[in-house]
Amino acid sequence: MIRQTSTNFAETEANADRFELDYAVEENSQASLERARPIPRISIQAFCENSHMASVVQDASEDRRLSKAHVSVHMGGATAAVQHYQESPTPNLIVVESALPRQQLISELDRLAECCDPGTKVVIIGHVNDVVLYRELLKRGVSEYLVAPITPAQLMESLSNLYNDPEADPVGHVYAFIGAKGGVGSSTICHNTAWTLSEALKSNVIIADLDLAFGTTGLDFNQDPVQGIADALASPERLDEVLLDRLLTKCSEHLSIFAAPVVLDRDYEITPDGCDMVIDVARQNVPYVVVDLPHGWSAWTKRVLLQADEVVITAAPDLANLRNAKNIVELLKQSRKNDQSPQLVLNMANMPKRPEIGLKEFEEAIGIKALAVIDFDPETFGQASNNGQMIEELSARAKAAPTFREIAMTLAHRKEVKVEKKSPLAPLLEKLKLKR
Ligand SMILES: Nc1ncnc2c1ncn2[C@@H]1O[C@H](COP(=O)(O)OP(=O)(O)OP(=O)(O)O)[C@@H](O)[C@H]1O
Ligand SMILES: [Mg+2]
Repeated sequence: MIRQTSTNFAETEANADRFELDYAVEENSQASLERARPIPRISIQAFCENSHMASVVQDASEDRRLSKAHVSVHMGGATAAVQHYQESPTPNLIVVESALPRQQLISELDRLAECCDPGTKVVIIGHVNDVVLYRELLKRGVSEYLVAPITPAQLMESLSNLYNDPEADPVGHVYAFIGAKGGVGSSTICHNTAWTLSEALKSNVIIADLDLAFGTTGLDFNQDPVQGIADALASPERLDEVLLDRLLTKCSEHLSIFAAPVVLDRDYEITPDGCDMVIDVARQNVPYVVVDLPHGWSAWTKRVLLQADEVVITAAPDLANLRNAKNIVELLKQSRKNDQSPQLVLNMANMPKRPEIGLKEFEEAIGIKALAVIDFDPETFGQASNNGQMIEELSARAKAAPTFREIAMTLAHRKEVKVEKKSPLAPLLEKLKLKR
């Protein structure tokens, strides 16, 4: 994905001031990461002045949010960019780092403008916080002026803002749920979390059931759904807002399911690109897309896990689960360096008479803290499953009900929105208030 040329390379020494600044920048970085959304299939060419910025762009280019974009990094700053585009066509986006004084930078950019194709956007990374320069650049059609030092997350956020207008075109979050082994309760946790999200936040949620042959989303919500997801995956390029609406089954005001066909006389050929396209259309239409992955390993499962905003691994406290969860965590940590670690839910804990791996031991072995531990409770889970109900619907007093709230709120980075309990005297008090 990335090509680096090393002409005119000026190595800069990291000094103490820079170090302090870097530290402050890091603090903002996490917030930027949460706001940075995927960037479309565009070409980006960066012209850096120093190796630090080159590595920032390189880091960003390896992130999942830029996986569709084609990025190349060159050295030499604004001057090299002007030279380069006198002979070559311009890409969708040019990022130029420049430490030139104001007037010189402006005249280089005027030269660059002469060889820029009309659709090309330009982002400048400068080294001075100069408002006059900023205004001059905006007047010349520069899309963004960033002041170094910046982190890969901040760069990604700025680039993503150029292509995703948060007001006009919100991009939903994608949460992928997978079990470390088959039958550990991943779908149950996925569905309960999605339902809680839709109820607690009153935000629209789509559950995409990617277990095409055996998915339980329809059963769990007591629905006889349109089994739409296989059709969407068979011709993802046809999927638009209107078709999506036809293929979804509405379970409640804010929750819809993209249900699996659950028939076996059909062959399902899912491609990683097809999955990407279907999830993208869903996330353009609702703020939360919750993907229920079957336990198994294929190119498309891996792609969904690597591309999701957050991954939730459900594991039972035994050795095979531990080994598999560890492998998934390591893969994700390695391939998603700018992201938080995946979340772990330890399910079916404290099963009577079963020898188990303790929570602390489990956490230490895989190197992450569990987001939640859910006890083995066959009575509650079995009843909910037979009724086609969520745990909280069955009984708000069930031990697992608040746990699903915690999982949902953590994933949404929200604090619980408490619904005010109205007193039986409320209508009377309202009347009195009106009279006053
Ligand atoms: N904490 C729990 N206590 C008791 N039973 C549970 C618990 N969690 C889930 N179950 C039950 O375990 C069964 C399997 O759950 P589920 O289908 O969610 O697992 P899965 O990991 O998605 O399986 P698959 O590998 O088939 O996708 C269901 O009957 C469910 O009700
Ligand atoms: Mg499942």
